[in-house]
Amino acid sequence: MDNPEKYRDEYVTDVTYTMNYKLELNPLNVQFNFLCSGLRPPEINKACELGFGQGLTINFHASGSTTQWYGNDFNHKHYLFANELARASKTDCLLTPESFHDFCNRTDLPNFDFIGLHGIWSWINDENRDIIIEFIKNKLNPNGVVYISYNAFPGLIDTLPIKKLLSDYYNELPEERDTTEKVVDSIQFLEDFLNLNPEIINSFPNLTKKLALIKTQPKHYLAHEYFNKHWQPFYFTEMNDILEPLGLKYAAPAYIIDLFKNLYLTDDQHQFIEKIENANSQQNYIDKIINRQFRAEYWVKNLDPLNEEEYLNLISEVSLLAIKPVDTFEIIFETYTGNAEVNEKIAKLILYELATYEVKTIADIYHAHADEGIALNDIATVAALLIYKKDITLVQSNQKISEISHQCKNLNTFIMARSIISDDINFMVSPRTGGGVFVNNIEQLYILARIRGLKKPEEWVKFAWDVNLWRSGKILDDRVGSTFPNDINGKEMIDHAIDWEKNRLPFLNALLIT
Ligand SMILES: C[S@@+](CC[C@H](N)C(=O)[O-])C[C@H]1O[C@@H](n2cnc3c(N)ncnc32)[C@H](O)[C@@H]1O
Repeated sequence: MDNPEKYRDEYVTDVTYTMNYKLELNPLNVQFNFLCSGLRPPEINKACELGFGQGLTINFHASGSTTQWYGNDFNHKHYLFANELARASKTDCLLTPESFHDFCNRTDLPNFDFIGLHGIWSWINDENRDIIIEFIKNKLNPNGVVYISYNAFPGLIDTLPIKKLLSDYYNELPEERDTTEKVVDSIQFLEDFLNLNPEIINSFPNLTKKLALIKTQPKHYLAHEYFNKHWQPFYFTEMNDILEPLGLKYAAPAYIIDLFKNLYLTDDQHQFIEKIENANSQQNYIDKIINRQFRAEYWVKNLDPLNEEEYLNLISEVSLLAIKPVDTFEIIFETYTGNAEVNEKIAKLILYELATYEVKTIADIYHAHADEGIALNDIATVAALLIYKKDITLVQSNQKISEISHQCKNLNTFIMARSIISDDINFMVSPRTGGGVFVNNIEQLYILARIRGLKKPEEWVKFAWDVNLWRSGKILDDRVGSTFPNDINGKEMIDHAIDWEKNRLPFLNALLIT
């Protein structure tokens, strides 16, 4: 690669990444998933996010928690935007535009209770992976946790030929051409090639399905996913071979659903897995059974199992808040291998308890139904699944909320001001969850309209409409993340705002976003 600026460290730097939020890095999620795995939840006072991308995640966590955050990303546009968010929220996080090499070799960094990297490991070269390994070795505290996500084998075996076909074509295009245009051309080439019905489709029948998915994905996501020089899925056992020598052990999944094996394995598969005593072997075989494509997980230096009494005490103190109306509840949800059902009776009991927009602990819910003979642990199990389904959310203590509310308010003020000039951020930070919540551009404009004193849904609609007209010079369309109908005069638009006031606003109030 002869243009070092475009491909620093053999990574695409001229196309920015998507503005996303990753709950997996939220200390509350880490602690809850440890607890549900029967492990003592870690204290996270100092945390580091390597390769923070656009920086929404690190800034939401820096403003929403009392944890002090540090992070880097060498894409200068990413850094500038992330730093603007940090300045707006007035947190004391340290963000730098350094490469992994420079950041990880700084001598002024503290030791960390948590080091997290999302969407990094599979897309960088060996040299950078070694730098990160050294960093973890030197900078992680004795009880420290590592969060890491990576493309996984065996599920991505049949994506290897796709990656190769795309990058072979891409690499032959002129270096000086625009990266996004080259991405588009390469995908068109892949489609033309597969239309020739080459023999490879017989060996990898999923290729056409994968192409169909790729065609729906945003180009700036695809540029980072498939068009870096490096794209390396790992088996879980390979990750264990890398992390074990650092004193790390697999602790908990980042996606809580992983713990509920009976929901995505058949009875025979489940029995087969349960007979395996070694936790690592269990992970290894589960991946083979479900043909896993992506892993996101926590590793810890000191595996500290809880006894039953400790577990019940800690889980009973977990605080919850509903984030959807009870009447939208669905029993069925998607797992790795198909649909599963959540226990309807207990789910409804939890949801009706939380239907008043108040925070309640698992113990509160248990005691309110003490005469129904439901075990506290069954309530905890169903609550975990409702969290996974995004019906309810974990919330932090009032003490923490009072310490960080002002920072969240600062950051949300920035996001709302930006909602006028751009619709690219579809999240706001909640002091209650200590992290990001999906709130699309139209919602942000409604909230802003209300702050500006507009009281009626018709007025919010007019405000949002005018902003969009001014911003784009055209009427609102169905862009990603927005749910705005496209007829200003139609009843549909007003209904949209009335429905939002009834079904969304109370939850945004409860999340302390509005
Ligand atoms: C796929 S993006 C993921 C971003 C973010 N973690 C997220 O999930 O939204 C990978 C990020 O790593 C950064 N990156 C890649 N190689 C790097 C390096 N050698 N030093 C610093 N940052 C790097 C890129 O600029 C990019 O923002």
